[in-house]
Amino acid sequence: MCGIVGYVGGNNAKDYIIDGLKKLEYRGYDSAGIALQSENGIVVRKKEGKIANLEALIENEKLYGTTGIGHTRWATHGAPSDINAHPHMSQDESIAIVHNGIVENYMDLKKMLNEEYGIVFKTETDSEVIAQLISVLNKGDLEKAVYDAVAMMRGAYAFGVIAKDEPNKIIAYRKDAPLIAGLGKGCNFIASDIPALLKYLDEIYLIENDEMVICTPERVIIKDKDGRELKRKVLHVNWSLEDAEKDGYEHFMLKEIYEQPKAIKETLNRRIDENDNITLDGITLTKEQLEDFNKVYIVACGTAYHAGLVGKYVIEKMARIPVEVDIASEFRYRDPFVDDKTLFIAISQSGETLDTLAALREAKSKGARILSIVNVVGSSVARESDDVFYTWAGPEIAVASTKAYTTQLVCMYLIALYMGRLRETISEEYYRSILAELKAAPAKVEKILSRASDIESLAKMLYNRSNVFFIGRGLDSAVAYEGSLKLKEISYINSFAIAAGELKHGTIALMEPETIVISLATQDALFEKMVSNIVEVKARMAHVVSIAKEGNTKIEETSTETVYIPQCADEVSPLLSVVPLQLFSYYVAREKGEDIDKPRNLAKSVTVE
Ligand code: M6R
Repeated sequence: MCGIVGYVGGNNAKDYIIDGLKKLEYRGYDSAGIALQSENGIVVRKKEGKIANLEALIENEKLYGTTGIGHTRWATHGAPSDINAHPHMSQDESIAIVHNGIVENYMDLKKMLNEEYGIVFKTETDSEVIAQLISVLNKGDLEKAVYDAVAMMRGAYAFGVIAKDEPNKIIAYRKDAPLIAGLGKGCNFIASDIPALLKYLDEIYLIENDEMVICTPERVIIKDKDGRELKRKVLHVNWSLEDAEKDGYEHFMLKEIYEQPKAIKETLNRRIDENDNITLDGITLTKEQLEDFNKVYIVACGTAYHAGLVGKYVIEKMARIPVEVDIASEFRYRDPFVDDKTLFIAISQSGETLDTLAALREAKSKGARILSIVNVVGSSVARESDDVFYTWAGPEIAVASTKAYTTQLVCMYLIALYMGRLRETISEEYYRSILAELKAAPAKVEKILSRASDIESLAKMLYNRSNVFFIGRGLDSAVAYEGSLKLKEISYINSFAIAAGELKHGTIALMEPETIVISLATQDALFEKMVSNIVEVKARMAHVVSIAKEGNTKIEETSTETVYIPQCADEVSPLLSVVPLQLFSYYVAREKGEDIDKPRNLAKSVTVE
């Protein structure tokens, strides 16, 4: 949700910034811009659309400056346009800023700046107030002006500032939006996220809330909100550049789908010792504490929420504790039953989703113990949790989440098995059998991937339909929600997921000849019931594509097409059955010629409410 990058050093900042912005384009891509400190003051260039448009705009210009900031935008206030693109310059052209987040009281600030200082705003954005505010407050000390501005602002933000009168310096400030500082050789950086800087360095500082960073070519200084200098541990980033690049794949999404066997293995292997005991690294809960919880809340958004639906099923089944799953944006506003006997599990790939973060804080304020399942190390959700259980999926760049989901499922299984064993609600035999199933999952996912061309053919046949339904029972219904989200977000096809047994209570009215129904029928215990639901839609002439386990050939009698996944225990089938759905969405979107990694209106990390 907007990406920011800044460079200060001895070379042309433009090249580093454009390169960094391309790596951050997943965060927002409706416009982009750059501001450089040049000999003639601050120069700003910005353009609606992808970064390629900005590159085209400046390609014949000799822009040069050794200090600069850049931005890639996901619009909140004001339509995507050249004028609303960042950076924003103050009226006197002394200050330029890039901003990620929202200034909630921007209307009041605008009014005050207009009435008291005669500022005429050029854009419809909330962000412009930051530039104007800092410029009117700046009496020769940029640092002080930024502190004074922040004291007047409400909201969530990370912003970077350059000033005409203070060359070779970038100041940035963080409050509830991600910000890092990168430590280069003879140069330093600010950025929203690590991929922007991977090419140039492997040492970063994580910036915390209410902290200021002052970057010069020689130093990075971090200060708290009262101006006190802080000591910060350097974080060594162990991602490789290839992790953040496409590596020969046409899209990041496809690369990430294919990375799942490795990611599942990694998430799993780090937690299982040679005697098949699960070690919950990052979790300091004692046996007594775990036994003492009387309720689990799983809260997340989007795909992570769908992983939570599977989590509910497996934790209730294995650990026999009541579990509620909630959408983060709903949780915090409905006065939920949470207290110190509640284990609150937040799931988030980015660890920066504001809805999830706000729900976590709400639960924390009511005394719950916070355990988070997060992919991005050191992210806000991770830092604000009591315990963190990382999904070791590596960077996920495509907006459509894939490997984050399957590794979130692995974490859910490990937590459920661990708790079940501790609470003696599962037998040792059951524990070992599910663990064996999990260990076998990467090879089974490989097998599904080796048949991707079958799914591609299916997508070529069905890509131009306009309505798709995903149905399933039990765990299959949780996967149906994820399959449906995947399809709609990248192919823009109207899709809808529903528990198969619920169809007859209304939704079946929508079935007509050639409606596509993707039916998940991987639950042995519910297979016959599911077949009945398939027959019901088939009788309305729907085109049914079933996902079933190898050997369950009976399904072919009632389906138009069948896609098989390897045999597995019902409990772990989501890990496998989601893969053909991810591939189907990918190939449908490709067939339609959509921008798969950067679907319209979306951004990878959603840091607004
Ligand atoms: O970073 P998070 O896991 O917290 O993100 C949550 C959702 O925004 C995310 O899963 C979103 O639904 C994806 N685009 C789904 O593919």
